[in-house]
Parts: sequence; C-alpha cells; structure tokens
Amino acid sequence: MGWDAAALPDAHGRTVIVTGANAGVGYFTSEQLAQAGAHVVLACRDPERAEAAISAIRRRVPHASVEALPLDVTDRRSIDAAADALLGRSVDALVLNAGMVHPPRTRQTDEYGNELVLATNVLGHFRLVARCIPALVQTDARIVTLGSMAARLGRLRIDDLQLERSYTPWRAYAASKIAAQSVGFELDRRLRAAGSAAQSIVVHPGYSISGRTPGIRGVNHPSRATRFADNLQAAWTQGKDGGAHAPVRAVLDPEVTGGDYLGPAAFTKGPPVHIPATRASRSPRLAAALWPLLERAAAQPFPL
Ligand SMILES: NC(=O)c1ccc[n+]([C@@H]2O[C@H](COP(=O)([O-])OP(=O)(O)OC[C@H]3O[C@@H](n4cnc5c(N)ncnc54)[C@H](OP(=O)(O)O)[C@@H]3O)[C@@H](O)[C@H]2O)c1
Repeated sequence: MGWDAAALPDAHGRTVIVTGANAGVGYFTSEQLAQAGAHVVLACRDPERAEAAISAIRRRVPHASVEALPLDVTDRRSIDAAADALLGRSVDALVLNAGMVHPPRTRQTDEYGNELVLATNVLGHFRLVARCIPALVQTDARIVTLGSMAARLGRLRIDDLQLERSYTPWRAYAASKIAAQSVGFELDRRLRAAGSAAQSIVVHPGYSISGRTPGIRGVNHPSRATRFADNLQAAWTQGKDGGAHAPVRAVLDPEVTGGDYLGPAAFTKGPPVHIPATRASRSPRLAAALWPLLERAAAQPFPL
C-alpha cells in the first residue's frame, strides 16, 4: 500500500516520544506527528534548544500538544531519569532518533569509557529501552529505530566494537548504524518470543540535508553557502522534513508491523516504502553476539 505523508491518519489520543527532537529529522518527525494530533514528547539534551523546537512547533501547528523531556543519551543519570518518567506514562510510540551524524576525527570516549559514536547512536537508546520496556509492552507500543543506508556500506566488527584498533569517523558511524539496526530487529524477535504485541520497526531517512530543508527560526537556519551547495545535490537528496516521513509512517501506519524496514522509495529520497534490510542487520547470529556486549557496555541487563 502507498503512503501519503500529506494525509496522515488521525493520531489524537496517542503519545509519542522522540529523542533528539530539537533539530533535523527528529524535529520534523515531532512536528508532523503533532500535526496529525499526537501528543509529542521532545526528549532533548539541551533545554533551550528543546524550548526553541517546542515554540516552533506551536507556531507552525496551532493545535499542537507538545512537551519537553530532558534526555542526554550519553549520560546514564539522564537516561535513567527519562526512563523513570516514561515508566509512569502511557507511551504509544518511542522514536529512537538522537544521533551523532558527524563523528569526531579521532576516537573519543564518554565518561564510562565507551567510544562516543557507539555510545550516542546505540548504547544510550539500548539502556533507555531496557529500562522502560515494561511500560512499552503494557501499551503495545511501537519502538522505531533510525538506521541508515550507511549500514549497507560499512561493516560491524564484533571483535573491535569500541574501535580501539580501527577507528575512523566513517567506520564509527556505519558500525553504529549496523548495530542500531541489528538491535531494532533483534528487539522485535525478542518481543515476539515473549508473546508481546509491542513492535520494533527500523527505518532510514535516506540522504536528508539542512540546505534542502525549510528554514525554521530557532531550529534550522542554513547559511546561503549551505543552501547553494546542498541544492547542487538536489537530484539525490531531500530535506530533513522528507527524511521524517519514514519514522512518521512507522509510528502511524496500521499496515506497518514489527520487524519491518522502511526507507525512501528512491534509496536516498522519496516517499517511505518497505525495503529489504542487509543480511548483517537481520542476522540473529550477529545480534546474539552483539547483545551481551551492549549489555556490558551500557551496564544494563536487558529484561527480554
Ligand atoms: N540526515 C540524514 O541524511 C540521515 C541519514 C541516515 C540516518 N540518519 C539518522 O537520523 C537521525 C537524525 O539525524 P539528523 O540528520 O536529523 O541529525 P541532526 O540534524 O544532527 O540532529 C541530531 C539530533 O540528535 C541530538 N543528539 C545528538 N547527541 C545527543 C545526545 N547525546 N543526547 C540527546 N540528543 C542528542 C541532537 O541534539 P543537539 O542539537 O543537542 O546536538 C539533534 O537533536 C540520526 O540517528 C542519524 O543517524 C540521518
């Protein structure tokens, strides 16, 4: 079935949490879900940027129901506080969007000694979901993971997960996205095995860039040079508003189910459709090897 991003199903009465919601794909996911009537919780690390995003959504969507939740996915205290807050609420969907898309040139670690790209793109969400899974299971929630087409091009080395021997920014990003997708698909298998109706869905937003994105005060103001350079790539890019169509479909489309993988129809751009995921991302063997390493690195046993 096709999907019309301009005619979303009514989402009144649903509560959706979006991590990294103050900018980029996360912002537009939040705005589009609010437009459809959902109550959207913007989980962001910087209160001022969160407030700017909330003001922008209220300006652009007058009936919007939105609030902020503090969340830094590299800070365990912050993750645990956010998870505790979610445990007390009825959550219909959780969009795991926060991410580092421009990794540092040289390997860096968080305060727990984990490689920073892995920590930001995988471990924080792993710990968050592990801690609030009882609430997500109770409401048959959808858990939507932002993967990437980079997962198609890179490799995940289980024997060097923290990239101590082989760090490059590109390798770190691609490996983190393979790991994120692997966790997303494995989570769905574990939910099924536990007899839960909660669902885990993986999406990727194609190649979505700021200079092709509407300017929004306090959220997105690319320079003229960025606009110019990004528009030269118009044939194979889209705005971050277009990138948000895949996670929004994963949250709202009744035809989407756990274990699905969605991405733009023309690979880097276009309306979100079902697409095949890489063998590595879908591999139960890879996930089985990865899972205990993530539990150890996140210092968080996973209850499923
Ligand atoms: N854009 C693309 O073409 C593309 C392609 C494939 C996959 N993706 C994935 O889509 C997601 C969003 O990408 P994007 O292009 O929208 O990136 P973006 O514009 O750089 O936005 C990233 C968001 O994540 C937040 N974030 C970063 N580190 C965080 C932390 N430690 N704790 C909490 N939030 C944090 C940022 O908050 P701050 O403002 O505070 O930094 C920001 O809100 C990422 O997972 C990315 O890997 C994007």
